[in-house]
Amino acid sequence: MFLSEGHMHQVVFSLWFCFYLVLIAAQDNITDPTEVEALKAIKERLIDPNGNLSNWIRGDPCTSRWTGVLCFNETLIDGYLHVQELQLMNLSLSENLAPEIGSLAYMERLNFMWNKITGSIPKEIGNIKSLVLLLLSGNLLTGSLPDELGFLSNLDRIQIDQNHISGPLPTSFANLNKTKHFHMNNNSISGKIPPELWRLPKLAHFLLDNNNLSGYLPPELSKLPTITY
Ligand SMILES: *[C@@H]1O[C@H](CO)[C@@H](O)[C@H](O)[C@H]1NC(C)=O
Ligand SMILES: *[C@@H]1O[C@H](CO)[C@@H](O)[C@H](O)[C@H]1NC(C)=O
Ligand SMILES: *[C@@H]1O[C@H](CO)[C@@H](O)[C@H](O)[C@H]1NC(C)=O
Ligand SMILES: *[C@@H]1O[C@H](CO)[C@@H](O)[C@H](O)[C@H]1NC(C)=O
Ligand SMILES: *[C@@H]1O[C@H](CO)[C@@H](O)[C@H](O)[C@H]1NC(C)=O
Ligand SMILES: *[C@@H]1O[C@H](CO)[C@@H](O)[C@H](O)[C@H]1NC(C)=O
Ligand SMILES: *[C@@H]1O[C@H](CO)[C@@H](O)[C@H](O)[C@H]1NC(C)=O
Repeated sequence: MFLSEGHMHQVVFSLWFCFYLVLIAAQDNITDPTEVEALKAIKERLIDPNGNLSNWIRGDPCTSRWTGVLCFNETLIDGYLHVQELQLMNLSLSENLAPEIGSLAYMERLNFMWNKITGSIPKEIGNIKSLVLLLLSGNLLTGSLPDELGFLSNLDRIQIDQNHISGPLPTSFANLNKTKHFHMNNNSISGKIPPELWRLPKLAHFLLDNNNLSGYLPPELSKLPTITY
C-alpha cells in the first residue's frame, strides 16, 4: 500500500498520540482492584443508617477520599495504591463484616469500634499479615475467636472487649510474638486460659474480666501489674 506524505504524517501523529495516552495512563495511580472489590463487598454487607459510606461508589478509594479509607501515600512495587487503614468507628454501622476484608492485604489498622456490628469475626482477617491494630470493641459480635488471628505476626494490639464473643481463647494466640495489648473483657469467653499464653514475650495488658472463664489465673500472668481477670 502506498501512503502520501500527508497520510504518513497523520499515521505518525496518531501513533505518538496513542503513546502519549499510554504514558498518561501509566502515571495515573489507582487502588489495587482486588482491594476496591473488597471495599465494595464490605459496604454491601453493612447497614449504614447515616449514609457515611455513600461516597464509596465515586471514583477511586485512595484518590477520591472514601470516608474512613486511608491509603499509603505512594504506590508500592506493584504499581498500585493500597489501603493502610479502615477508620470506621462510631458510625452506627450494623450487620456483618464481609470475609473479603481479608483481601486488604497491606492494611495496618482496622478500626470498627463502637458500632452495632453482629455476626462473627471473619477468620480471613488472619490473612492480613501486616495488621498492627485490630480494634472491634463495643459491637455486638458473636461466635468464637478464629484460630487464624494467631497468625497476625505483626499485631501490636487486639481489642475485642464489650461484644458477645463466646468459645475458648485460641491456643494459636501463643504465636502473637509482638502483641502487647489483649483487651477481651466483657464478653462470654469460656474455658481455661491456655498455658501457652503465659509466656507471650511482649505482653503488657491482658484484660479478661467479665467473661465466663474457668480455672485459675496462671501465676505468670498475675505478676503483670496491669492484668485484670
Ligand atoms: C456520619 O454521618 C453523620 C450524619 O450525617 C455525620 O454527622 C457525621 O459527621 C458523619 N461522620 C463521618 C466520619 O463522616
Ligand atoms: C510517604 O510517606 C513516607 C513515610 O511516612 C515518607 O517517607 C515519604 O516521603 C512520603 N512520600 C510522599 C510522596 O509524600
Ligand atoms: C504516582 O505515584 C508515583 C510514585 O508514588 C508518583 O511519583 C507520581 O507522581 C504519582 N502520579 C500521580 C498522577 O499521582
Ligand atoms: C465513640 O463512642 C464511644 C461509646 O459511646 C465514646 O465513648 C467515644 O467517645 C466515641 N468516640 C468518638 C471519636 O466519637
Ligand atoms: C516467636 O518467637 C520465638 C522466640 O523468638 C520463636 O522461636 C518463634 O518462632 C516465634 N513465633 C512466631 C510465630 O514467629
Ligand atoms: C462489663 O461487665 C460488667 C459486669 O457485667 C458491667 O458491670 C460493666 O458495666 C461492663 N462494662 C462495660 C464497659 O460495659
Ligand atoms: C457461662 O457458662 C455457664 C455454664 O456453661 C452458662 O450457663 C452461662 O450461660 C454462661 N454465661 C454467659 C454470660 O455466657
